[in-house]
Amino acid sequence: MCGIIGIIGLAPVAPLLVDGLKRLEYRGYDSAGIATLTNGSIDRRRAEGKLVNLSELLERQPVDGTIGIGHTRWATHGRPSEINAHPHANERVAVVHNGIIENFKELRSELAAAGHSFETETDSEVVVHLVRDYLEKQMSPQEAVAATLKRLEGAFALAFVFAGRHDLMIGARRGSPLAVGYGEGEMFLGSDALALAPLTNRICYLEEGDWVELTKEAALVHDAEDRPVEREVKQTAFSGAMIGKGEYRHFMQKEIFEQPAVIGDSLHSFLDPLSGTVQLPDLGIDFSAISRITISACGTAYFAGLIAKYWFEQIARQPVEVDIASEFRYREAPMPESGLGLFVSQSGETIDTLEALRYAKRCGQTILSLVNVPESAIARESDAVLQTLAGPEIGVASTKAFTTQLTVLACLALATARARGSIDAAREAALSQALLEVPARVAEVLNHDTTIRMIAADMMEARDVLYLGRGSLYPIALEGALKLKEISYIHAEGYAAGEMKHGPIALIDEDVPIVVCAPAGPLFEKTAANVQEVIARGGKVILISDAEGIARAGDEAAHVIELPPVDPFVAPLLYTLPMQLLAYHTAVLKGTDVDQPRNLAKAVTVE
Ligand code: F6R
Repeated sequence: MCGIIGIIGLAPVAPLLVDGLKRLEYRGYDSAGIATLTNGSIDRRRAEGKLVNLSELLERQPVDGTIGIGHTRWATHGRPSEINAHPHANERVAVVHNGIIENFKELRSELAAAGHSFETETDSEVVVHLVRDYLEKQMSPQEAVAATLKRLEGAFALAFVFAGRHDLMIGARRGSPLAVGYGEGEMFLGSDALALAPLTNRICYLEEGDWVELTKEAALVHDAEDRPVEREVKQTAFSGAMIGKGEYRHFMQKEIFEQPAVIGDSLHSFLDPLSGTVQLPDLGIDFSAISRITISACGTAYFAGLIAKYWFEQIARQPVEVDIASEFRYREAPMPESGLGLFVSQSGETIDTLEALRYAKRCGQTILSLVNVPESAIARESDAVLQTLAGPEIGVASTKAFTTQLTVLACLALATARARGSIDAAREAALSQALLEVPARVAEVLNHDTTIRMIAADMMEARDVLYLGRGSLYPIALEGALKLKEISYIHAEGYAAGEMKHGPIALIDEDVPIVVCAPAGPLFEKTAANVQEVIARGGKVILISDAEGIARAGDEAAHVIELPPVDPFVAPLLYTLPMQLLAYHTAVLKGTDVDQPRNLAKAVTVE
């Protein structure tokens, strides 16, 4: 959470900082601020609320300077307000911080006893007090930062500027990511490569515990023991063009419509269309000898894991456990010999997923991760990594990240099935073919956009919405409900259709829309019976099915959305799309902030 940026360069930095913060706003958006050096003095502007408030403030009260740091905040300690907004500063030093300083209370008491007075409610403010203390003991800025870092517990990425030092910026990372960008006569710091995309494509990701001294020309990286170290500088594929909205009104809408392309990209990196077989890269894992796969993830990525469980069990006959990472990490679950831990994360930064991974590693599991950001902490701490090729996802609600996760997990299930000898060649070819057709089928589903917008107009007044599915579409019901909640703020719940009678059916009346995912197939009659039970109690059903399912059960539904008939194996990929579009259009009609819904942030790097 929180995005940070730093620039030491040639041109006035304020507009560049604000521009960088725009690309980081998805990480947090309850306040923002920048600090630059004007004639050697720290000059700060901060504003509560969206970045636009900071931009307006800067128009009224511009700042100069060719060195500066910026921050967009997702509040953890201290409510969103101008006073709690970063940068935190005193007359000697200014800092921006992403993460949590866990021992801030102890440090704050110690510093207060030594005469420091605090302005804010934040954990981050202790950092500037500590650095000033060390500077006043005649340490250099580098020594003061190194000494400060040794006092801090928790997870952080930090960027500092110092009064009177136009030639120096310092960055540090522990737990939260920080990238160094290399320009021509200018250098950059950013929470991710995306923030720096239009400024440079030469990026070095700091390692855990590193800190870095930047001048306009160079970066000198130190490890956690303050020894100078070399870190690889890579070319990133991100470009400024990849992070615009293009013709779309919202990033989320653009990302929904990108799915045929990015599912295709992710698929083709593992499934060769010519041979029609899945070919994984050499991961160094013997998939025939895994006793159990334990999948752990958060939110939407967890739902991808739930669907993968159906696939691994049904196709590969592979025992699988799935758990929410924030539960799994504290559950003290015994883990089997020869077990594989599989961690799914778009950002690769989610702290609970990372800690779940570390637990599994301590328990001797082989660690495989599935991430969209290959430089992320989760990827780096894994034995093997699979990447989704979703490209940058800016909308806070996950869309294309989810469907590309499903795509790669489906390929992994097929590869595991082959390794375990649990699938014959004909079935493998049929399922591979079904997967290869997914991008085209997904494009067909997107043609229902207008119909779904009309259904959303009916749904926008609802106070509660239920989502039902069975088998591998049960997690899709969970995902549909999560999508609606997070961007339209309508209360929604997903249930396994068979669970209705065990409680939730009591909620049904004519004011509660019920979205049902029920393609024709082996489980259809069961779900159709559940639909009848709902209709008999006055429930308003929105049925998502194929032509056959609609012919058999569609008459009494208030609305139907007809999807192409597909093999049940790939149905979760298709049935996700109407969920996304329903949530999107409902939110747009309600006038909520679709790309930056309240209280949320894209990368959850705090517990
Ligand atoms: C929901 C959503 C979240 C994320 C979750 C995990 O739309 O985006 O539930 O899926 O925070 O994030 P990653 O995948 O980055 O670990």
